[in-house]
Amino acid sequence: MTTSPAGANADTPAMVASRQRVLDAGLFSDLDLRLAESLADCGNIVEVGAGTGHHLAQVLEAHANAHGLATDVSSAAIRKAARVHPRMAAVVADTWAGLPIRTECMDAVLCVFAPRNRDEFARILRPDGRLVVVTPLPDHLHQLREMTGMIGIQPHKHDELVAGLESRFEIAGHEEVRTVVDLDGPTASDAVAMGPSAHHVRDVHVDGVEVTSAVEITTLIPRSSRSV
Ligand SMILES: C[S@@+](CC[C@H](N)C(=O)[O-])C[C@H]1O[C@@H](n2cnc3c(N)ncnc32)[C@H](O)[C@@H]1O
Repeated sequence: MTTSPAGANADTPAMVASRQRVLDAGLFSDLDLRLAESLADCGNIVEVGAGTGHHLAQVLEAHANAHGLATDVSSAAIRKAARVHPRMAAVVADTWAGLPIRTECMDAVLCVFAPRNRDEFARILRPDGRLVVVTPLPDHLHQLREMTGMIGIQPHKHDELVAGLESRFEIAGHEEVRTVVDLDGPTASDAVAMGPSAHHVRDVHVDGVEVTSAVEITTLIPRSSRSV
C-alpha cells in the first residue's frame, strides 16, 4: 500500500465509513453473487475505484485460486481495502493518472460506480481479458431520492458508458440486477451520506425504509489491436 494525498473526488473517511455500513447491510449481495459468477475463471482481478474493496473481496471469497488488487484515490478507502481479504493487495492510485500495473497482465478489470479510463483499462488487460462495469439504473435508491435532496441518476448513463468505451471494447453482455432491502434509519441515512450527495446534503436523518438497489452489469472485451 502506498499513500498519497486524496484527489478531489476521493471519498472522505466519513463517506467510506457510511458505505461500509451499507455494504454490510447487504444492499449489494445479489450483485456480488452475479459478479462472482461472471468472474469465475479469472485468476488476476483488479477493482478500480474499489472503495473498501467489498465487491472484490466477495469475488475472491468465491474463488480460492483468484488474486485481487484494489485501487482507489482515497487513502481512507484503501486503508480498509488493504485489510479486507488475504488474497487482496491495495494501492492508492488515481485512475486518470495511470494505474501502477504492468501491461496486459490482468484477466479482469472490475469497475463499480467508479471512473473509467478506457485506454488504461485496455492497456492492463490481457487480450483475452474482460472489463466488467457496474452502473446504477434510473430507479437505483429512488426511495431515498424521493425522501431527501439526494443527487439523481442521469438517464443516459448506459449510452454514456458505451460511447466512452466502444473505441477499445465491444460489449459481450449485460444484465440488470434488482434487490429490495429493508434498511433501518441509521443505515438508510448512511446510504445517502456515502454518495456524492454527501457534499450537498448535510446531517441526513431518515427513517427506516425499503430501498431498491437497481444496477446494470456490462461485460466488455478488448477489440483486437488490428480493429482499433
Ligand atoms: C461510488 S464509490 C464506489 C466504491 C466501490 N467501487 C463500491 O462500489 O463500494 C466511488 C469510488 O471511486 C473513487 N474515486 C473517485 N475518483 C477516482 C479516481 N480518479 N481514481 C480512483 N478512484 C477514484 C472514490 O474514492 C470512491 O471510493
